[in-house]
Amino acid sequence: MLIDTHCHLFKQDYSNVEEVINHMNKNIMIVSADNLKTSYEVCKLIAKYDNVYGTIGIHPTELDEYKIDNLNEIESMILTKGIVGIGEIGLDYHYENTDKDLQKEVFISQLDLARKYKLPVVIHSRDAFNDTLEILKNYTDLKIDLHCYGYSLEAAKQFLKINPNIRFGIGGVLTFKNSRVIKEVVSELDLKYFVLETDSPYLSPEPYRGKQNEPYNVIYVAKYMAELKETSLDEIAKITSENAIKLFDLNMKK
Ligand code: NI
Repeated sequence: MLIDTHCHLFKQDYSNVEEVINHMNKNIMIVSADNLKTSYEVCKLIAKYDNVYGTIGIHPTELDEYKIDNLNEIESMILTKGIVGIGEIGLDYHYENTDKDLQKEVFISQLDLARKYKLPVVIHSRDAFNDTLEILKNYTDLKIDLHCYGYSLEAAKQFLKINPNIRFGIGGVLTFKNSRVIKEVVSELDLKYFVLETDSPYLSPEPYRGKQNEPYNVIYVAKYMAELKETSLDEIAKITSENAIKLFDLNMKK
């Protein structure tokens, strides 16, 4: 069994979401929302499929129409069966004209929500290592998935130092020819720190780089990781699935 711990399976990107989910067979997916609208879509999807779980939340680049009341709506969905975390939330300083203060405020509010309901969080952090680390120092009680991890090995060690329950989400970027930094992170750290993801519809792994991604492709990430760690695909599937089940407290629906 493989678990894609992070994907976005919404109508805006796929003409047939059902087909994409069925392609995963009995493997498991955790669908991440990025705003209020997709949070509602996540709730619908998890009600429909036994092998689909979800996280809800507001992404740092989705704040243009943000209102404080949005968080009350997110909270109202939290107890839906199959919601296993808050995400994806975080900080993204990649673009100019970024309202960093608003990003921090919304990130922190959602971390508080996760704490209140004892839920893990799925974090997006881009070009914002220092602020992410500083904020997470106040949330060492939380279980955390640093999704699409893109910082250095040294940074990974700093994260683990403040919170040993941080896990790193590894996706298609691992298979890219020039992704030296992430290959180093995976080579050097113990397998217990990793969960697999696709971040579908983005970031397809080789040999499908540039095409639309789907959760099924998580197998190519797993295969690549097996080669890097000089172990079998079965071993990677087993350990990363165990890690994901522990991180998200997945009580198998069936
Ligand atoms: Ni994502």
